[in-house]
Amino acid sequence: MSNIRRLADLDVRGQRVFIRADLNVPQDDSGAITDDTRIRASLAGIRMALDKGAAVMVTSHLGRPKEGEFSRADSLAPVATRLAELLGREVPLVRDWVDGVQVAPGQVVMLENCRFNKGEKKDDEALARKYAALCDVYVNDAFGTAHRAEASTHGVARFAKAACAGPLLAAELEALGKALAKPTRPLVAIVAGSKVSTKLTILKSLSQRVDQLIVGGGIANTFMLAAGLPIGKSLCEPDLAPEAKEIMVMMEARGAAVPIPKDVVCGKTFAADTRPAVKPAGAVEDDDMILDIGPQTAAAYAGLLREAGTIVWNGPVGVFEFDAFQNGTRALAEAIADSKGFSIAGGGDTLAAIAKYGVTDRIGYISTGGGAFLEFLEGKKLPAVDILEQRAAGAKG
Ligand code: 3PG
Ligand code: MG
Repeated sequence: MSNIRRLADLDVRGQRVFIRADLNVPQDDSGAITDDTRIRASLAGIRMALDKGAAVMVTSHLGRPKEGEFSRADSLAPVATRLAELLGREVPLVRDWVDGVQVAPGQVVMLENCRFNKGEKKDDEALARKYAALCDVYVNDAFGTAHRAEASTHGVARFAKAACAGPLLAAELEALGKALAKPTRPLVAIVAGSKVSTKLTILKSLSQRVDQLIVGGGIANTFMLAAGLPIGKSLCEPDLAPEAKEIMVMMEARGAAVPIPKDVVCGKTFAADTRPAVKPAGAVEDDDMILDIGPQTAAAYAGLLREAGTIVWNGPVGVFEFDAFQNGTRALAEAIADSKGFSIAGGGDTLAAIAKYGVTDRIGYISTGGGAFLEFLEGKKLPAVDILEQRAAGAKG
């Protein structure tokens, strides 16, 4: 793992510890939390700081509120309530905290949505210095936000007396780093989702390293078009077909491949009750929409996954929210669960699929990151990690 200090190694007894977590959880229209995975994943860091006898402050962003204004819809109140339940202790929520927070050793308080503070998103130096002044030790445990250089993820780490990684951030970097640095081969990646454009960088970067690059969703349609197949009125980005072609040619040249579906499941409209029709990939009609991979293709991909040494999974290969079009994603989820290889998975839809098919315990590592997971896989430097490395290097002289 990268060279950064860790909370686990520090003595923080009696000290003021400021933890930046990623508690940005999905909520329904009434504000109820629909998935508390990120809160659970943050417990270890909070407990660690408390067990060490620190006075603990925890903050996070939630949503993308307008800075300089409080909005109830984006308040961390439901998150504080849930955290209190999970910790089995009170977690008071502090509304105004930038200029000072009262908290005693052995206590934990939650600091309201940091994106309510003016200057947070722009990594404003004055704001970051104020955050830093609140604590003796700054702990970044927000892997999900590590790709953002904001005042609470980056600036504060420059100015705090000490800065380190919490256990979640450390575990993420270690698991993902291990999977990519020296992967057991074959290395198989699944990159799926609606658009090539949003995942072009990761497709290009993975295409240079993986043995098999399984594509799905709208991305697969663009690759099918590039391979000369009919795709009807399926979601697709024709402009990017040449880039897709280039990736296929480049991978083939080094003995790797982007497998192209042999069969697909089509519907006439994008609806749960549209009639599913399985057909060979070459037989897709003008008014068809491809909504899943077909059974032959699913079996072939499942075979690749069962034999893989390492698997990286981001994105469902079909519209798995619709029962008739979930079989491809389910077959892949089960094959990944059965595989003897080490698997890592990340991204909101992927996590939803993992939960739906009950394979959570059989995935090697499930990342709490969406955008951060992708940027890590792309080989980009995550600003929140980069600054911790710089601090660690500075501390050693
Ligand atoms: C996420 O949910 O991907 C992270 O919490 C980052 O949120 P953001 O995209 O609003 O910065
Ligand atoms: Mg919200």
